[in-house]
Amino acid sequence: MHDVEVKRRMGEADIAALSKLIEAASHADGHRALGEHKWLDLVQGGREGFAGFVATEATGRHRVIGYAQVSRGAGSWAVEYVVHPHWRTEPQLRGDLVAAALREIAEQGGGHVHVWVPKPSSDDDSVAEAAGLKRGRDLYQMRRSLPVEGLQSTVATRPFRPGADEEAWLEVNNRAFHGHPEQGSWTRRELDERERQPWFDPDGFLLAEIDGRLAAFCWTKVQDDDHDGGEVGEIYVIAVNPDFQRRGLGRELVLAGLEHLHSVGLEKAMLYVDRDNEEARGLYRMLGFHDDHLDRAYTGDISPAGELHTSPAST
Ligand SMILES: CC(C)(COP(=O)(O)OP(=O)(O)OC[C@H]1O[C@@H](n2cnc3c(N)ncnc32)[C@H](O)[C@@H]1OP(=O)(O)O)[C@@H](O)C(=O)NCCC(=O)NCCS
Repeated sequence: MHDVEVKRRMGEADIAALSKLIEAASHADGHRALGEHKWLDLVQGGREGFAGFVATEATGRHRVIGYAQVSRGAGSWAVEYVVHPHWRTEPQLRGDLVAAALREIAEQGGGHVHVWVPKPSSDDDSVAEAAGLKRGRDLYQMRRSLPVEGLQSTVATRPFRPGADEEAWLEVNNRAFHGHPEQGSWTRRELDERERQPWFDPDGFLLAEIDGRLAAFCWTKVQDDDHDGGEVGEIYVIAVNPDFQRRGLGRELVLAGLEHLHSVGLEKAMLYVDRDNEEARGLYRMLGFHDDHLDRAYTGDISPAGELHTSPAST
């Protein structure tokens, strides 16, 4: 038996209790239970639309045994939840946390929602289905250590030039990722928005040209590591112009990106790849990446009235 309570601001005692929960879950799972941004939202009081749902034991010491957090992104909502390892055999707890989060979104006007679950189990699938959500994308996080011993890139690359390379990059990106739900139809506005981010570094955004045409690129990003609080280098977006694929350029560009990340002092690299992108997964495996874990998105559209309509596998 448990109770679920909504919190729109967190006091010190709440943060301490949630830290313990997140620590226990992270220890059991081998990776951080709540994403860095979500955790910052929680500690700093939350952005617009923030709501945390804290589940406690209904009896005894009323320990915190579960937590769900709702946050409003650009045009959609995101939900993450954490369950204490000792309470994972009780699907009702997950179900109540997800239901509370979705109710909150309905009360705040509804909209498109992603519920991201790391290392999903069949219980997570059942809970999402019962809440009327559809299974969206499955993403593998793959990792490897740096440097890559014994392999060197042999293709010349140069840094992205803000203000000059945007149109060529957009064309190659959108052709290479044609049909991809998130990466396949970028506009100038989306690219400009990324270039304004504090993490944006043109020196880590490598382009390779053949006969004056953009043939391939590897865009890297340095970020906080959810595993241990250190830093990790991400292969953020990589693609080869379809006119130049299967000539070894993908492999060369991954190596160039990894060399750059090691040159700025990083000792590990990671990336996200769709589960069914066999070409890319084969390439990454060949270069020593291993699957770290799978993240699954469940999606749906919440109407303001609280009635749930699922969208056809949209992400
Ligand atoms: C994935 C991608 C970058 C590979 O680039 P590429 O230059 O064509 O790949 P390479 O010639 O360097 O091939 C390296 C290895 O990747 C794998 N691979 C690449 N394309 C493949 C395909 N069509 N089918 C099967 N394996 C493939 C193979 O293991 C290959 O090694 P091999 O040639 O010895 O068999 C390219 O296909 C691409 O841009 N895809 C669209 C964008 C994308 O999915 N990016 C990755 C997102 S995480």
